[in-house]
Amino acid sequence: MLSTTQEYNWTRSLETLKDSIRIQLDEQQVKFEGAMVRSAYHFITDAAQELKGDDQEDWEWHHQVMYNWMLKIVSLGNSGDIAPGSETWEADGVQVRQSLGEYLESTGDASAQLMVRVGQNIVKVFRGELTPLELVMEDNLLNRYYMEYPKLKERTYKHLSKVAESYARVRPDAHILEIGAGTGGATKVVLQAFDAALRDPEDDGGDDADRRLHYTFTDVSAGFFPAANTKLAGWVPNMDFKKLNVEDDPEAQGFEPGMHDLVVASLVLHATKSLEHTLAHVRKLLKPGGRLLLVETTRDVVDMQLIFGLFPGWWLGADKDRIMSPKAPTAVWDQVMREVGFAGVEFEIGDCEEAEYQSTSLLVTSALPVS
Ligand SMILES: C[S@@+](CC[C@H](N)C(=O)[O-])C[C@H]1O[C@@H](n2cnc3c(N)ncnc32)[C@H](O)[C@@H]1O
Repeated sequence: MLSTTQEYNWTRSLETLKDSIRIQLDEQQVKFEGAMVRSAYHFITDAAQELKGDDQEDWEWHHQVMYNWMLKIVSLGNSGDIAPGSETWEADGVQVRQSLGEYLESTGDASAQLMVRVGQNIVKVFRGELTPLELVMEDNLLNRYYMEYPKLKERTYKHLSKVAESYARVRPDAHILEIGAGTGGATKVVLQAFDAALRDPEDDGGDDADRRLHYTFTDVSAGFFPAANTKLAGWVPNMDFKKLNVEDDPEAQGFEPGMHDLVVASLVLHATKSLEHTLAHVRKLLKPGGRLLLVETTRDVVDMQLIFGLFPGWWLGADKDRIMSPKAPTAVWDQVMREVGFAGVEFEIGDCEEAEYQSTSLLVTSALPVS
């Protein structure tokens, strides 16, 4: 095991790792990203048109907010501000739309399937004829989305894996707590990374890693725990499953302050009203010098917003200019982290190097000693 100084220097060592894990999109990936956004724009434009005559009072509050967002997307698209050339999309005929749909279908990708399914049903959801949950849960599609969404699976989760593996070499006996662990997508990545770091290089792999970590899997909803138990069965002897709402003080929910070396939070912290309160609660869970591995959307992409915008949680953010989307850019995370006792964003890597398609990021920060 490495020394405390080496643990202290760990974040700095990530800068060296960064160059070896940057991801550049290939032609196929650029085509996929472009088709997702363009197709989402069409679903939004069509639904906005169809919903124009409805009495908005009949809709749920968050669909009223989403409708304003949809109008904004139509206008951004038409002025060329969603993507280069988006000002021409309004004129796309049936053939272009159909071939976009066929192409997305042909990829067999769950994120494409989910976006298309949601896009085709926006109007029904607004009118209360379908619940968004029914829509996303059918065929296990939401679960598959988290497992297959290229930005996560092929990019940000790979970054998470490399960074967690590097941390595991410094602190293989880490006490880890995950917030909003949900379907366990990020959990599995982190647990596998710890196993990879602990495995003897002479070994030929297998499940016999000498596990010294302890992992507390939490979510605001205990409903995720049975499936997570099954999915993570091999690691369960080193795990606890506990309910935690990160919007409330963790101590009041039975979590002793300052007990964890590492907190993992993947696509959850944005779903809260106040980033400041939320991050202060995260800080409370960590030991001084403990690290937060944060996966977040730092730049909006229309296709992802279309799916999650149907749920009220997407529109809960009420601070930091998060009215049209709950995401916060890296600069805002950095500022709030500093306000509540973190060192600010010490490491950042976007899912890909192409700014136009980048949207998720992995951020790392350290908990400062309490003064
Ligand atoms: C978008 S999912 C992400 C799931 C998982 N972290 C992953 O990356 O696959 C968001 C998760 O955060 C949970 N969540 C939402 N609000 C929360 C809160 N206030 N406190 C804790 N968890 C919350 C949800 O129940 C859900 O499981």
